[in-house]
Amino acid sequence: MKIYLDNGATTKVDNKVVEAMLPFFEEKYGNASSLHIFGQEAYKSLDGARKTIAAKLNAQSEEIIFTSGGSEANNLAIKGIINREDHIITVKTEHPSVLNTIKELEKQGVETTYLNVTKEGYIDFNELIASFKENTKLVSIMHANNEIGVIQDIRKVYNLCKKKKIIFHTDAVQSFGKAYISSEDADLISISAHKIHGPKGVGTLYVKKGIRLKPQIFGGDQEGKQRAGTENIPGIVGFAKATELITEKEIKQMESLRDYFINELLKIKDTKLNGPRERLCNNINISFKYIEGEAILTLLDFEGIAVSTGSACSSKSLEPSHVLKALNLNQKEIHGTIRFTISKFTTKEELDYSIDKIKMVVEKLRKISPLRGDKDVYR
Ligand SMILES: Cc1ncc(COP(=O)(O)O)c(C=O)c1O
Repeated sequence: MKIYLDNGATTKVDNKVVEAMLPFFEEKYGNASSLHIFGQEAYKSLDGARKTIAAKLNAQSEEIIFTSGGSEANNLAIKGIINREDHIITVKTEHPSVLNTIKELEKQGVETTYLNVTKEGYIDFNELIASFKENTKLVSIMHANNEIGVIQDIRKVYNLCKKKKIIFHTDAVQSFGKAYISSEDADLISISAHKIHGPKGVGTLYVKKGIRLKPQIFGGDQEGKQRAGTENIPGIVGFAKATELITEKEIKQMESLRDYFINELLKIKDTKLNGPRERLCNNINISFKYIEGEAILTLLDFEGIAVSTGSACSSKSLEPSHVLKALNLNQKEIHGTIRFTISKFTTKEELDYSIDKIKMVVEKLRKISPLRGDKDVYR
């Protein structure tokens, strides 16, 4: 049995997506900028895909810039707006593609405020308001967090920013296709195809009409002169197909499986749910006290169950997750944390099998844990 519960890291490409992409490798392989029939065919498909993704965001086609994924979209949104003299507001729990981009800008003198979060992961609006400065140019706050699934009230953030004439960017890589988001929620929105059963290496930055970005890749005139490079037509077509396939029914199904899984896992002694109950439909993040996440991951892997200890990016290092640290969890709780992320393909049978194996693994590890019973270590 092989069970994939790491859909926050990436997802299986839907067969229908693969089918839609194939002709663009073998027959319709033109460059969308070429004038001949091959080019025209490619351009038509590119245009169609742009319309599909724009429609999903209630936006216009010209507001969609295709990128190589979520990381590039985040880089473009931030570096495309910020100048040396500006101030940017972000949150401590953002994805590294936002945090590390901002760190680079700080080296050039850009001023930054990192907002704190509550113990469930929400921003504090009073802190946000108090952080606005004369030179605040951009606020970048993610829609749904990749580790703990908390969903921020970005519409409220956007309204506050609009009043101050501050540009608002949101990283919607985890939420697109799982929670409602539209062009009414932000000026700039980052999305990635591989989190919604599309291919890797393709994404979008939605850019509200009237906002001009400083390009980060120079070259040809593609993507409204804001992002040079021959468009990845198979990837973009696959991205649009994956977007078309999103259904409310599957979101509801994930929500119900998520709640079932959470309730069953919390029946295990000394467990704690990280992030709020009302959360992203596919995210479950649990601390199993007194044991190490890496050991849980390895033993579950032996049983054919794929999970993650933090976000995919940090899971290869033993550095405690910056998101869990921001929630004020103590080191020992952080170390026993596992992220389970389901998808539209996850079944109840898979979860039941996983629950049995998780119980077995946790019990086994606790038996040999030197920390077991020494509760003072944790509080
Ligand atoms: C919240 C968030 N933002 C950005 C990214 C980066 O997206 P990509 O892998 O397409 O570069 C990820 C991927 O893990 C993510 O979870």
